[in-house]
Amino acid sequence: MANNEDQFKKVISHAKEYGYIFGSSEIYDGLSAVYDYAQNGVELKKNIREYWWKSMVYMHQNIVGLDAAILMHPKTWKASGHVDAFSDPLIDNKDSKKRYRADVLIEDHAEKLENKAQKEITKAKKRFGDSFNETEFVTTNTRVIGYREKKAEMLSTMAHLLEAEDLSGVKALIEELGIVCPVSGSKNWTDVKQFNLMFGTKLGASAETATDLYLRPETAQGIFVNFLNVQKTGRMRIPFGIAQTGKAFRNEIVARQFIFRMREFEQMEMQFFVRPGQEMKWYDYWKQTRLKWHHSLGLGPENYRFHDHEKLAHYANAATDIEFKFPFGFKELEGIHSRTDFDLKAHEAHSGKKLQFFDPELKENYTPYVVETSIGLDRMFLAVFSNSLQEETLQDGSTRTVLRLPAILAPVKIAVFPLIKRDGLPELAKQIIEDLKWDYNVFYDEKDAVGKRYRRQDANGTPFCVTVDHQTLEDKTVTIRHRDTMEQQRIAISDISGLVAKSLSMKDWLQ
Ligand code: GAP
Repeated sequence: MANNEDQFKKVISHAKEYGYIFGSSEIYDGLSAVYDYAQNGVELKKNIREYWWKSMVYMHQNIVGLDAAILMHPKTWKASGHVDAFSDPLIDNKDSKKRYRADVLIEDHAEKLENKAQKEITKAKKRFGDSFNETEFVTTNTRVIGYREKKAEMLSTMAHLLEAEDLSGVKALIEELGIVCPVSGSKNWTDVKQFNLMFGTKLGASAETATDLYLRPETAQGIFVNFLNVQKTGRMRIPFGIAQTGKAFRNEIVARQFIFRMREFEQMEMQFFVRPGQEMKWYDYWKQTRLKWHHSLGLGPENYRFHDHEKLAHYANAATDIEFKFPFGFKELEGIHSRTDFDLKAHEAHSGKKLQFFDPELKENYTPYVVETSIGLDRMFLAVFSNSLQEETLQDGSTRTVLRLPAILAPVKIAVFPLIKRDGLPELAKQIIEDLKWDYNVFYDEKDAVGKRYRRQDANGTPFCVTVDHQTLEDKTVTIRHRDTMEQQRIAISDISGLVAKSLSMKDWLQ
């Protein structure tokens, strides 16, 4: 595709055209940064959720699930630190009247230096060809080293300023770096201010008696407040984990980039409770395990990288992001955080209830430490969808749009077509669907020439098409066409299910 911006536009329009994602309440001109998942989108989302859930809950004997409510006692958010510290540093440009996250402005500026370094690497790669040694080049080339040192210094200064809550220092840094507003091009900035991201709501019938509540900004706290309930009823022993998927809400000020940053989104989180002192071992374990999960989907290992946090959240003693190469560059897809005993201790203090574990091996009580893995389901959707959307030039010079979704995640697994709309072929095709529908989401299509129907399914991401023709009436065989290779095979009707099942084996994908 032409360039990243074009590709991203294509991703957004393809998602709408093929029934994956619509803007929320579009007939009223939509609601900014809120989206609806359409007939195919809801299936892809469900399949990603299931792939995550099975890899966490079914693959680990010591991890169990939970589905806590979105509304929680308001003290939860005081204890977790969200009331006091869940805010973004915002800055306005006085000329364009646009509002930005001050840290994002600086990070984007720093990323430009990385892009310059990458350009040097690409140039050198071209110059030296096969003999190019990237590791040696990046550690000896003065320009690359210079760009990267400058970037690191910028980010570290920002981290220190944010850590010290020195908002005028953050503004001074923006001015010193000469950062301009992307819209007006001016450096006419307001002061930097903190803005809390939680959505408030009310519980109760009348304004006077109603209690102020928050829509949860992360699912994790539902796990912490249930830690002892699950531990006792599940007779769990440390180390053990609790996994949960569900909606979270943040009043994002700079909501942009389609479903990358939304106001209502879904998280897939797992809190792993460990012995104090063992958290770094588990932090490394979960870093590797989660990266392996991502790699298993075949989107290309070069599209992932770790980014260790410069500025740690108030609850963490180590944190990293798994970043993915979205059409707009490498951005956070998942966070892995060593959250210490901050949350359990804070809930103990605010609730007055003990949240400790008696370790039978050590014969002592302690507050467990926690390692968390937290991934945005919508971001994962965007990663899979944008990476899968490809435009290919075929041997005959024609082009085809193909959505190469991993088969295990594809919304529709099999499309069944009668070659023509008569001679009993539609009836036979529908009979085949009657049998397959117990195991797969199957789609029937009889409109247009079969080639056109194949192309529609390619663009829809359907891994298999089955065509019923006159020979099927005679020998009960069909043509099965593979989306990625466009290869066609003649197989017995009774073999369709087995062939498709092979390509959807969770064991094969995950291993
Ligand atoms: N419990 C830890 C936590 O919530 P986070 O880094 O704020 O950590 C975790 O969020 C993940 O949730 C992110 O890596 C991202 O994938 C997703 N996420 C966060 N804010 C989001 C938003 N506004 N829209 C979509 N996804 C979001």
